[in-house]
Amino acid sequence: MCGIVGIVSKDNSNVVCDIINGLEKLEYRGYDSAGLAVIDSTGLRRLRAVGKLENLVNKLKINPIYGTIGIGHTRWATHGKATEENAHPMVTKDVALVHNGIIENYKELKADLSQKGYEFTSQTDSEVVAVYLQMELDNGLRPREAFRKMLQAVRGTYAFLAIFKAQPDIIFCARNKSPIAVGFGKYMSIGSDVGSISANCSEIVYMDDGDYAEVTKDGAKFFDNGFSTIDKPRVAVTDDLVNLGKGEYSHYMIKEIMEQPSAIRKTLLGNEVPKEFFDKISRILILACGTSYHAGLVGKYWFEKYLKLPTHVEIASEYRYRSPVIEDNTLVLVITQSGETIDTLEAMEYVRKNNNTCCLAAISNVLNSAISRSADFVFHTEAGVEVGVASTKAFTAQLTVLAKLAFCKNPELLNQLQNLPMACESSLLLKEDIDKLSCRIKDCANAIYLGRDNLYPIALEGALKLKEVSYIHAEGFAAGEMKHGPIALIDDVVPVICLCPSGSMFDKMFSNIQVAQARGKNIIVFTDSMGGKSFDESVEKIVLPSINQELCPILYSIPLQLLAYTVTVLKGEDVDKPRNLAKSVTVE
Ligand code: M6R
Repeated sequence: MCGIVGIVSKDNSNVVCDIINGLEKLEYRGYDSAGLAVIDSTGLRRLRAVGKLENLVNKLKINPIYGTIGIGHTRWATHGKATEENAHPMVTKDVALVHNGIIENYKELKADLSQKGYEFTSQTDSEVVAVYLQMELDNGLRPREAFRKMLQAVRGTYAFLAIFKAQPDIIFCARNKSPIAVGFGKYMSIGSDVGSISANCSEIVYMDDGDYAEVTKDGAKFFDNGFSTIDKPRVAVTDDLVNLGKGEYSHYMIKEIMEQPSAIRKTLLGNEVPKEFFDKISRILILACGTSYHAGLVGKYWFEKYLKLPTHVEIASEYRYRSPVIEDNTLVLVITQSGETIDTLEAMEYVRKNNNTCCLAAISNVLNSAISRSADFVFHTEAGVEVGVASTKAFTAQLTVLAKLAFCKNPELLNQLQNLPMACESSLLLKEDIDKLSCRIKDCANAIYLGRDNLYPIALEGALKLKEVSYIHAEGFAAGEMKHGPIALIDDVVPVICLCPSGSMFDKMFSNIQVAQARGKNIIVFTDSMGGKSFDESVEKIVLPSINQELCPILYSIPLQLLAYTVTVLKGEDVDKPRNLAKSVTVE
């Protein structure tokens, strides 16, 4: 949450455009406001705007600023509303600072600084850091000493970039729990992710927690938390790390939905499960958030059925606060698209501290992310960069890895998995049918999703997808649970979206749909050709390709993503950047 970028030119060229380009790639991390600061011959110059980056770009057209060194920020508000005063960079007389994270002791620091006569113009925790640096400069310290002293004074999570009027050729950076990579190329660049700095760099260094760096046009010096110089490995920038843009599509979300057959194909190619992987394992614990949690719920059905391993799935943000008991020889599997989610990372740390017999494995879409680096074993979802805030291709790639793991002792099912990319391609052809269906949903205030067995988590995921992008309140239920309460919600208007492929659960699900139909008029059924025969015209039917019922969670996710997408576009909402959300959730 929040994206930061910094650039030092090597040939005295203006860095403002490159900062904007970097921020554009980071907008998925927050879009409450954006801002940048540069140093020119007159000193520090700053420009900020509330809302999306385009507002800052428009301001720049009227009030251009130039500089050969600069920092930028795109904000997801934590402390203080989305106003210009609270937008970064935070600037004092002699320093400009951008921050991603949360400063936990900002109140104490602020009280102390206020007592010393320093004034504040924002409600943010970050401004305290800039003012603290100013105080140390006023005390006579040089920028390096002031920055180091500040690092010893603050507590919390951070990625900081700071520039000082007194030393206009250095960007000072530091990391604790919020990501930073430093890029080497046409210019020196620093960013929250590789995509934001890769345009002109060939190699990057990932900073680790406790690292601090000084970046100049000649390169970067890295230091550990005791401020001793350290060597950091440089990694070549490869295509899979780069956000290649929207291409022919109008939104990232639809591009990423369409990329699923290829993402699944690539994910199937890799991720071989080591022969002895489950040998010493007596149970599985899955930890994840949001959509990744829903993938974990599907994993539970598969692991228990095919590996006969008791499996628990927990929301990572709840897990470590209820003193959970971790049994020996548990495989702890964390699932994440971004590899950065703080709740998941903290849950991993809890496991590490409390049981050293566990194997900690991650299913992650971002190699070198914090979660990938702290896991003992990583399965990489080959979905490529996912930019749309709503997770789509990463989800089906996560399910693909889970299926490979769960079916590793079942050659027949492993074989069936190979049919999946083609079935997904066919399901994408349903877009036109789903476009029509969207008209029935776009003006509704609520929607209900029903599934049974391994499609129950897909009902939850379908509902999450619809609500997070279209703002229609949607809930997923296990169809058999309806009669225990939620059935009261059914009336003639509310869409009841039912997942009902043929197979062992068909009859039960069919009866649940009859019960819903007896009470409502807006029943929509996702089924296959065999199942479809049982439904007449009184329900709206979407017919998917037939596939082994174990694989339906992957296939049936796709039309539900399409539905969320088309409804949102019809409503005219910003599908790639839904309000209040950010793609990487790096605050608790
Ligand atoms: O990057 P992660 O998979 O760890 O993120 C977890 C959730 O924040 C994420 O899935 C979120 O729910 C998405 N907005 C869902 O589309």
